[in-house]
Amino acid sequence: MTESAAGAESRGTVLVALSINLLIAAAKGSAALLTGSSALLAESAHSVADTGNEAFLLVALRRSRRPADQTHPFGYGAERFYWSLLAAIGIFVAGGVAALGGATAAIGRAAHHSNAAGAALGPATPHGSSTGNHGPSPAPRSPRSHPTAGGTVIAATSAIPVGKAKSFIDPATGGPAWAVHPSDGTFIAFSAVCTHAGCPVQYDPATVQFVCPCHGGVYNARTGHVVSGPPPAPLQAIAVRAVDGQLWVGR
Ligand code: FES
Repeated sequence: MTESAAGAESRGTVLVALSINLLIAAAKGSAALLTGSSALLAESAHSVADTGNEAFLLVALRRSRRPADQTHPFGYGAERFYWSLLAAIGIFVAGGVAALGGATAAIGRAAHHSNAAGAALGPATPHGSSTGNHGPSPAPRSPRSHPTAGGTVIAATSAIPVGKAKSFIDPATGGPAWAVHPSDGTFIAFSAVCTHAGCPVQYDPATVQFVCPCHGGVYNARTGHVVSGPPPAPLQAIAVRAVDGQLWVGR
């Protein structure tokens, strides 16, 4: 086979590969649009990168065939390696950027779902007092502001019988919290955010404990201390005070 015939064959092979990769990229891209599959989208990007790779190889073949001249007495054959190197670098960079973009999007989606789940699993019950139901609960009602001083009413003390608890939103943080009436005339409150991974804990009146539905962490509802499970620290305490039959939080 002559040198020019071999060159034509190489060019033909690259052109066939380029055309097929273009078709594959279009097919994968269409399927990704129809199904919303991120895996197919990544595959489509992969095929586009392959197509770009073959475009570089075509350039390499064309430029390397130029005859020797005064500035390149040995010809331009070495350019083939230069353009092949560019093709390899292009694939590497495109793959890396696509992987980083996909990872960033996945982390963003996971964080969004985690926040949404946290909101949906808030600790409120229809009338505030816990019944020991650990399932998803509706959002707590907005607390009232103090009419004459700082602070917020979170419940009438009569609404929290001894041994029960009431969920509320901590005005200081905007996070879910529980007010507990563990013994006659004593009221305490804790953040409902588990110190392990941030899931909202639920109150269990049978044991006077907080139970985390995510990984089974258990807290003493009288002290906030960890009883068992993976939480590394007690629940954060919130200062509350009972005044004129109402439970206040804040100054
Ligand atoms: S998030 Fe509560 S135990 Fe893991």
